[in-house]
Amino acid sequence: MIKLGVNVDHVATVRQARLSIEPDPVRAAVLAELGGADGITIHLREDRRHIQDRDLFLLKETVKTRLNLEMACNEDVINIALKVKPDMCTLVPEKRQELTTEGGLDVIENFNLVKDTVSRLMDAGIEVSIFIDPDESQLEKATYTGAKFVELHTGAYADAKGGEKIKELKRLKSAAKIAKELGFIVNAGHGLDYYNIIDIVKIKEIYEVNIGHSIIARSIYVGIKEAVREMKDLICKHSLECKK
Ligand code: PXP
Repeated sequence: MIKLGVNVDHVATVRQARLSIEPDPVRAAVLAELGGADGITIHLREDRRHIQDRDLFLLKETVKTRLNLEMACNEDVINIALKVKPDMCTLVPEKRQELTTEGGLDVIENFNLVKDTVSRLMDAGIEVSIFIDPDESQLEKATYTGAKFVELHTGAYADAKGGEKIKELKRLKSAAKIAKELGFIVNAGHGLDYYNIIDIVKIKEIYEVNIGHSIIARSIYVGIKEAVREMKDLICKHSLECKK
């Protein structure tokens, strides 16, 4: 069954709105794991707008499943990652003005920097994934970086409506197939929720989805454990393996 990584950045966003100590993403991660999360994801942004260094250090000590650190190819964050050694680093593009990650990493344009970052992290024993648009030429170029994982950007699919959504889903299906054929373990994420996840879990090449906003938003009403459990149940109910 497709694994579920839960992104707890949004808990830190609420905390940082008051520069307070709560809510704490470290506690949220414990509850997400109790609800069935297969991994915890955080993004240590260059501007530290939500997750702080302290969260990363504590999560490294407390996460029982797997810790995935989303990060830009930025020297400051690379050095922190090399020190903390999360289970996985997912390389993403980062712009200061954006509300959230806006697109996949352009591996073609930034090839040398991406390749160098991948090898530094992998040499330290960290698995590396590249967040990438569902685009064949980007995927092909990514094979030369040495990364073993890619995370397909599902944002365009999540935002599209009607016929455009069907087109974006086709694009994702085809990219997942190509990525698997190229030898990658294929993850997916961004903008996934309790409705649009249903078609994603039917893509057999996908190994893991990373979901943040929709789960943390639902947790305001039902609590984190329940919100994660509901997402896990949906993934199970609609995935091909569970139907056998
Ligand atoms: N995957 C990546 C690489 C991301 O940057 C994000 C957003 O932090 C997510 C997944 C989760 O996206 P969302 O919060 O929209 O579920």
